[in-house]
Amino acid sequence: MRVIALLNQKGGVGKTTLSIHLATALARTGKVLLIDADPQHSALDWSAQREAASTFNVIGLPKPTLHRDIATLGAPYDWIIIDGPPRVNELARSAIAASDLVIVPVQPSPYDVWAAKDIVDIIRECEISRPQVLSRFLVNRLVPNTTLAGEITDALSEFDVKSFATIVRNRTEYAKSARMGLTALETEPSGQAAAEIQALAKEVSSLLEKTHA
Ligand SMILES: Nc1ncnc2c1ncn2[C@@H]1O[C@H](COP(=O)(O)OP(=O)(O)OP(=O)(O)O)[C@@H](O)[C@H]1O
Ligand SMILES: [Mg+2]
Repeated sequence: MRVIALLNQKGGVGKTTLSIHLATALARTGKVLLIDADPQHSALDWSAQREAASTFNVIGLPKPTLHRDIATLGAPYDWIIIDGPPRVNELARSAIAASDLVIVPVQPSPYDVWAAKDIVDIIRECEISRPQVLSRFLVNRLVPNTTLAGEITDALSEFDVKSFATIVRNRTEYAKSARMGLTALETEPSGQAAAEIQALAKEVSSLLEKTHA
């Protein structure tokens, strides 16, 4: 069992979108449970729209006891993905305490870079009791050939957290596919969104396999 949390205290950075897409990609390699830890229950709403057969289970667990609950709940799964809430620090701490990898989505804007400090500080605090936890920034909604696109990698390098080589671009397919409880991997399997999510899943798999080898 590998546990991955998508966290950022800032709202609207892509935690839910990326959780659902990563869950769909990883479900092709093993059994996946998506834990919706957000009281807004967006991942559960997404799942309720779905008419197609589900490729992974989704449960709501917006409680700061996640780290204890996952130990029993998670046993039958290869991958657990936690879609974190914005703002709630207690839930973020509990998710980190359960995680092998924390993914911090950030958009290429100065506001996102400044706000990233909050979650980085929480990760640092939690590392004291969970030193093995890995963390990575994931640039989301990049619009190529803009000044902001060029600046984001430099700006993030100020933090002591690495970034994924995979960068997720701003693509309408991410939002469009969600209307029917689907993902871009299913609506446009040979599209560019699908390709970047598969690249992300590959990076995540090799990162966790290498660490736990
Ligand atoms: N790569 C992308 N391309 C285009 N739209 C995107 C992308 N990522 C996210 N979005 C859109 O941005 C909005 C916010 O995304 P999402 O709900 O996933 O963020 P969140 O971090 O989970 O928000 P919250 O903090 O409220 O839980 C949504 O409308 C989503 O469709
Ligand atoms: Mg969300």
